[in-house]
Amino acid sequence: MIILGIETSCDETAIALVEASGGLMAPKFKILKSFVASQIKIHRPFGGVVPNLAKREHIKNLPILFKKCQMSGIKCQNIDLIAVTVGPGLEPALWTGITFAKELAKQYKKPLLGVSHLEGHLYSFLLPKKTNIKCQVSSIKKNFPAVALIVSGGHTILLLLKDLKTWKKLGETRDDAVGEAFDKVARLLKLPYPGGPEIEKLSKKGNPAAVNFPRPMIYEKNYDFSFSGLKTSVLYYLRDTNIRMHSNDTNNTNKNIADVAASFQQAAIDVLVKKTMRAAKEFKAKSVLLSGGVATNQALRKNLEKATRAEEINFLAADKKHNTDNAVMIAAAGYMDFLRKKKYPLKADGNLGI
Ligand code: KG4
Ligand code: ZN
Repeated sequence: MIILGIETSCDETAIALVEASGGLMAPKFKILKSFVASQIKIHRPFGGVVPNLAKREHIKNLPILFKKCQMSGIKCQNIDLIAVTVGPGLEPALWTGITFAKELAKQYKKPLLGVSHLEGHLYSFLLPKKTNIKCQVSSIKKNFPAVALIVSGGHTILLLLKDLKTWKKLGETRDDAVGEAFDKVARLLKLPYPGGPEIEKLSKKGNPAAVNFPRPMIYEKNYDFSFSGLKTSVLYYLRDTNIRMHSNDTNNTNKNIADVAASFQQAAIDVLVKKTMRAAKEFKAKSVLLSGGVATNQALRKNLEKATRAEEINFLAADKKHNTDNAVMIAAAGYMDFLRKKKYPLKADGNLGI
């Protein structure tokens, strides 16, 4: 079946067409078209996402992206299902997608399903890397039970999955999400929004062992996380060591800042990897699934890949472009909802859980 996915939960407007087939034990996805209009440049001067600006941009971008889909030769009559994100996210932004999807569903007389953004991230490991290639993770069955780590700007969640439709939450962050911590530390280091990719870039020039930042909750016997203390430690470190962001001694200062970035990144990664692996071992997971915007971080991917390999556990993560917000994952989650007969109400729910 052909699914039109629509995503407007935060600062990316995205529309995708995905061909889905197979059952719950072997879903297959082929990406026909995927368009993402990023609003980064618009929000950057404000250092974060401004909900009303996001809403305005989504309203402007949605018809443009839909038109691009139409121009790519796929007829609206051939769409079997429309899937739209209903939460979690910014409610004014979510409503723009829902309203647009409702209008399309009415105009073309198509069924419409509300989709969880977090389930979109969760299922992203099932997506093919490239457009027009069919992908099925080889033998879904042999990858379960699985432990999934979802790391984004709003969430840090560990799940235990029995199969593709049955899971329970093992733990989550008690304060800041890890992506939020990256964004806040980036701001302390005077780096532009979004901070995650900037910290990653800068970290490559720094020494991850230069500053011994705390690894919050790393030894606690639960699967929760906490990142706000780590961010505060960076703040205190900068204040106490008097690293000035605009010093004349630029070479030295740049090196110091790169060391801070790399040390912060390593502290965050250590906690994520340690707790994920502890869960994977405790629950005898056959695979670890990594998703969400922070999953684009190469150092995190490498560290988790290495740790899983040592335990002979499969490591599954989508291609980087499918880790940050996109509509392909929403179409895929729509298909999974269709298969498991799950229906979310067609209204924005900023705090929709998983
Ligand atoms: O999943 P996503 O695109 O949006 C949400 O659902 O929140 O995630 C965005 C988050 C932001 O906090 C951003 O700074 C972070 O993902 N991020 C990264 C990287 N790329 C994006 N964090 C660390 N390293 C990266 N390379
Ligand atoms: Zn997201």
